[in-house]
Amino acid sequence: MRDVGAVPCSTSSMSTTSHPLRLVPVRHQDQAAAVVVHDDPSWAPFTFLYGYDPDGTWTGYMSWLADVRRGVGLGPSEVPATFLLAWVDGELVGRTSIRHELNDYLEAYGGHVGYGVVANHRRRGYATEVLRQSLVVARAAGVMDVLVTCDEDNVGSIRTIQRCGGVLDSIVEQSDGGPRKRRYWIR
Ligand SMILES: CC(C)(COP(=O)(O)OP(=O)(O)OC[C@H]1O[C@@H](n2cnc3c(N)ncnc32)[C@H](O)[C@@H]1OP(=O)(O)O)[C@@H](O)C(=O)NCCC(=O)NCCS
Repeated sequence: MRDVGAVPCSTSSMSTTSHPLRLVPVRHQDQAAAVVVHDDPSWAPFTFLYGYDPDGTWTGYMSWLADVRRGVGLGPSEVPATFLLAWVDGELVGRTSIRHELNDYLEAYGGHVGYGVVANHRRRGYATEVLRQSLVVARAAGVMDVLVTCDEDNVGSIRTIQRCGGVLDSIVEQSDGGPRKRRYWIR
C-alpha cells in the first residue's frame, strides 16, 4: 500500500479557530448554502462550485462529481478530480478541487489544486488548512509531487502555497493574455 506520508505544511499563525476545518464531498443538504456562495459575484473570475449547472438538479450535480472523481464519462481534455467543500463549525468556508492528473492546461497554468475561501472567512488560516488537507487527498490519489499555481499578484495565495512548502518553479505568461501564473511544486 502506498504511504501517504507527512504533509510539510505549517499551521497559519492567523488560525484562531478552536473548531476543526473539514473537507467534505458535496451532500444533499449543502445545496442552499453552496449555491448562495457560488452566486456571489465577488468570486469572478474564480468559480466556487466546479462544473455546476444551475439548470440541472443538485442530485445530478452530486452524481456528476462522483463520476469525475472516478474518471467516468470524462471528455477528452478532462481529468479525474475530487471536489470538496470546506466546513468549520457548520459554516461553509471554502472549497477545493484536487486534480488526480494534469492535462496540458493544468500542467501549464492550473496545477493540481484549486482552492478558494469565502470572503468573510478569509485571513484566518483557512486556505492554508484547505491546501494542507488537499495535499493529503492528492497523495491518496497517487499524486506525490503536487503542482499549485496562482496569479502572479495573488499575495494571499502565494503566502498560502509558501506556507505549505511550495517551491517556485517558474512564472509563465498565459497564451490567452491572462495574468502571469506562478507555478510551485510541493514535494
Ligand atoms: C487567496 C485565498 C485563498 C486566501 O485565503 P485565506 O483563507 O485568507 O488565506 P490564509 O488565511 O490561510 O492566509 C495565508 C497567508 O496569506 C496571507 N494573506 C491572505 N490573504 C492576503 C491578502 N489579501 N494580502 C496579503 N496577504 C494575505 C495571510 O496573511 C497568510 O500569511 P501568513 O501566514 O504569512 O500570515 C482567498 O483570498 C481566496 O479564496 N481568494 C479568491 C480565490 C483564489 O484566489 N484562490 C486561489 C487560487 S490559486
